[in-house]
Amino acid sequence: MSIKHIIITGASKGIGAETAKYLCSKKIAVTAIARSQTELTRLQQMYPDLLFPLVLDITLSSAASDITAHLKKNKLSIDGFIHNAGLLINKKFLDLSDDDWNRQINVNLLAPARLTRDLTPFFNSESHIVCISSMGGYQGSSKFPGLTAYSASKGALSIMSECLAVELADHNISCNSLCLGAVQTEMLNQAFPGLKAPLTAEEMGRYVGDFVLNGHRYYNGQVLPVTVGNPD
Ligand SMILES: NC(=O)c1ccc[n+]([C@@H]2O[C@H](COP(=O)([O-])OP(=O)(O)OC[C@H]3O[C@@H](n4cnc5c(N)ncnc54)[C@H](OP(=O)(O)O)[C@@H]3O)[C@@H](O)[C@H]2O)c1
Repeated sequence: MSIKHIIITGASKGIGAETAKYLCSKKIAVTAIARSQTELTRLQQMYPDLLFPLVLDITLSSAASDITAHLKKNKLSIDGFIHNAGLLINKKFLDLSDDDWNRQINVNLLAPARLTRDLTPFFNSESHIVCISSMGGYQGSSKFPGLTAYSASKGALSIMSECLAVELADHNISCNSLCLGAVQTEMLNQAFPGLKAPLTAEEMGRYVGDFVLNGHRYYNGQVLPVTVGNPD
């Protein structure tokens, strides 16, 4: 396939779904990954020629081989990979169980690490990995009770993305981390019930879509705050 192809995890709703729609509207092919078949099918009906739905749980050990099979079957390579799927466990630190910590780290850090490692052979030269982190995981930002495991996992994701820019330089793959501020989605409602965010998922989807296509011409190995708030 000669047109660009971007993989987005967590594309069934929120920022991931809006990023997928934006990229397809720009005639970019997208593999949209999530666990919810119904939502992905709805997306595919909007862009039947450009959107490839792939129903899977990124934490399963079979995830990378399932994506590999999908790429081979559809003769796709990778120009961009957006590690967007995220889990947010909102629980006070003293109440967090080992299982909570494992689930939090597994979705937000280990799955992106495994997928990047196992899919590197499919990346084209000059491709771009974008890790969707959070202002909660940005050093020196305001911190909130209940978000320790989430923020720690996102901080680790950002540091991993700095390291990947170095590790994957020989493959000519760039990697950056976007630390998002509040965006109106189900996840935000769960973390901060009733909070009115300054940005919609659609607005952030446009930003992330443009960034995966062009951001690596300006940045590599960077951890970038994406917020109109003051990260104090
Ligand atoms: N909204 C905000 O204010 C905000 C702020 C900072 C950072 N972020 C980050 O932005 C990203 C997107 O967040 P959002 O607000 O759009 O969240 P959202 O609406 O809750 O969407 C999360 C997405 O992740 C997918 N997902 C979760 N676990 C998965 C798994 N194990 N395997 C595959 N897919 C999985 C969900 O799909 P299924 O349930 O269908 O699998 C869904 O598509 C997250 O990484 C989040 O941490 C959001």
